[in-house]
Amino acid sequence: TYVVTENCIQCKYTDCAEVCPVECFHEGPNFLVIDPDECIDCAACVPECPADAIFADDELPTGQKDFIAINARLGREWPVILRKKAALPDAEEWNGKANKRPLLVE
Ligand code: SF4
Ligand code: F3S
Repeated sequence: TYVVTENCIQCKYTDCAEVCPVECFHEGPNFLVIDPDECIDCAACVPECPADAIFADDELPTGQKDFIAINARLGREWPVILRKKAALPDAEEWNGKANKRPLLVE
């Protein structure tokens, strides 16, 4: 399955949600997650993310493995998002910043 990782936090560009063929992106206040039970591993979302935040679960960058459980858990709680919308206001400034993990709003 594919996993949304830390660099999505505070950016939330949402380009990913628009291209997913199986509607498996779920939206929280400052992050999106992929429901692992719905993802069909098509990889269509990966090149769409301006923050390069989406990875296969077996190719996660160092320090990002806890996002497997975060996606699974929040994918059950948050509502589905189907269309692209405006990114968060300071997305460009946050894109690429380190240590955003504590800023995740659930
Ligand atoms: Fe959706 Fe495909 Fe991305 Fe999975 S890999 S979240 S099915 S676009
Ligand atoms: Fe997040 Fe990238 Fe989608 S920043 S909302 S994973 S396009």
